[in-house]
Amino acid sequence: MDKQRLVQTARALVAKKKGILAADESGGTIKRRFDSINVESTEENRRNYREMLFRTAGIADFVSGVILFDETIRQDGADGTPMVKVLSDQGIIPGIKVDKGVLDMPGHPGEKFTQGLDGLGERLIEYREMGAGFAKWRAVITIADGMPSTACIEANMRSLAMYASICQDADIVPIVEPEVLIDGDHDIETCDAVARRTIRSLYRALAEQDVFIEGTILKPSMVVSGKNCSRQAGVDEVAERTIACLKNSVPAANPGVVFLSGGQTAVQSTVHLNAMNAMGVNLPWRLSFSYGRALQEPALEAWAGSAENASLAQGALALRARLNGAATLGTYKPEMEEAA
Ligand code: 13P
Repeated sequence: MDKQRLVQTARALVAKKKGILAADESGGTIKRRFDSINVESTEENRRNYREMLFRTAGIADFVSGVILFDETIRQDGADGTPMVKVLSDQGIIPGIKVDKGVLDMPGHPGEKFTQGLDGLGERLIEYREMGAGFAKWRAVITIADGMPSTACIEANMRSLAMYASICQDADIVPIVEPEVLIDGDHDIETCDAVARRTIRSLYRALAEQDVFIEGTILKPSMVVSGKNCSRQAGVDEVAERTIACLKNSVPAANPGVVFLSGGQTAVQSTVHLNAMNAMGVNLPWRLSFSYGRALQEPALEAWAGSAENASLAQGALALRARLNGAATLGTYKPEMEEAA
């Protein structure tokens, strides 16, 4: 394990003003996104869409890394340049999703278990040779009656720790992603309690597995009200609870926390991140973004499957990247939405 290299990569991912673009939708997920704009999910369309995103002018000012799906890391752009090189030529670190999606959690109906440890070491070496500097593994925690179970949390956090350890052996920075789903009618207090239980379990598992925390990045969900909860917590409450939850659960050695958007709107995701960074609390880690939908949705809609819309779509992505960059500094203002 090259600790210096791991620390360097992890710090670069959360460099000032910058965050991560998650563009690692699996085959099924990207098909759902394309269905929403009536575009067929062919390999060429997926390549064209993602290449357009990656070639957005100025994107590297706010995007430190991009998470790719296996298909994309092996693809070339339209002019034959490998997609990985399109990113690395701009100083953007290519990353790779390495989990293999979720299974139903055995013995616990309604809960999920993330798979993908088999052969992971060899896959990571191949990805590293292709230019990947970091990886991602997503665990899913569902809130409902009697859920999450301790079995679900523990099994998933142990797998995350095993994944992180295998990544570090390959000198790849593991992004550890325990997503507490927004789905459900639970209140924000419940989300808060489940997030604490989950993140604490994660760091216990990482410690037991001897993972080098300085060479990891945490990708959590924010502490929010369930999507169907009748009381939707306001911006300040989300920011305060998320910060308190993290301060009580995440060791100071961790270099960065990059949130997923998890079904929040693009603007909400920016506003919440900004509120946390504007609170003026001294935090031991950087607080930034690793958004999929919250960065891509406006661009996806503007693109609508047509190359003619590329500059509009790139403008939409550039705007979200810039505003989230501002949110990492706590300097975002709603007026900046109109200044586009
Ligand atoms: P969202 O921001 O769309 O939740 O995606 C982030 C991600 O990488 C989920 O695994």
